[in-house]
Amino acid sequence: MTLAGSNTDVDYLTAEKRQIIDACPKCHGLDFDCPCYHEYDVEVRKVRACIPMKYRKAALSVITSPQSEKPKEQLASYIKSMTKYRKHGTGLYLWGAEGTAKTYLGCAVLIEALRHGYSAYFTTLTDCVDNIIRSRDAFAYMLQNTTYLMIDDMGYAYRPIRDEVAYVDSVLDKVVRARCNNLMPIILTSHKNITELALANPSGARIASIIKEHMKRVQFTGPNFRDTIKL
Ligand SMILES: Nc1ncnc2c1ncn2[C@@H]1O[C@H](COP(=O)(O)OP(=O)(O)O)[C@@H](O)[C@H]1O
Ligand SMILES: [Mg+2]
Ligand SMILES: [Zn+2]
Repeated sequence: MTLAGSNTDVDYLTAEKRQIIDACPKCHGLDFDCPCYHEYDVEVRKVRACIPMKYRKAALSVITSPQSEKPKEQLASYIKSMTKYRKHGTGLYLWGAEGTAKTYLGCAVLIEALRHGYSAYFTTLTDCVDNIIRSRDAFAYMLQNTTYLMIDDMGYAYRPIRDEVAYVDSVLDKVVRARCNNLMPIILTSHKNITELALANPSGARIASIIKEHMKRVQFTGPNFRDTIKL
């Protein structure tokens, strides 16, 4: 299971503690009731939620290009009514072209869930499949019980070792169904629309019908932002 605890995560949290608590202009780290302690706690939970380093500071306000206006509006309204959507188990299906901030903005929503005090977990479909094979029930238990689950790049076809396909498929199916029945929100990103997703994996058709019933669909359009990145 990929859990927190690498040196980079420790370094990240050490730097965050210095910046947020030790350098707090209000309490200089001396008042446990100061909001700075809550802010740091959110950082610890981002690491535990396995939010990748690149997306740990994700926020809607950072993305300002016009192509993202509409998805941002939809996500802002989802965040505004987070308690209500959480109660109904309504998740998000973020779909569209590559490099249009689907993963980034999905993580921004996940971080808001952490701020609301909910538990959350980030994984990609590929890692999820690997971990299901490696850690069996323990990983499935976690997938089922974290309040918000984000599975990135759901549209990729997974190709686990031949005789594991049926097993992975049944675990994924069980997890998604149990989550929906227990009104636990799922956030998915995908470069495929629902019809295409239905054909991508053995469990695609069932997942597509679950998306229709339990997730708000948010479309991302526009040019690939990765093309504009200069290194
Ligand atoms: N509309 C946008 N405005 C600014 N930066 C963007 C935008 N879309 C994507 N990016 C940047 O491009 C990179 C890829 O975004 P990502 O969320 O990983 O894309 P996707 O998951 O849609 O393929 C990230 O560094 C992100 O910050
Ligand atoms: Mg992505
Ligand atoms: Zn403080």
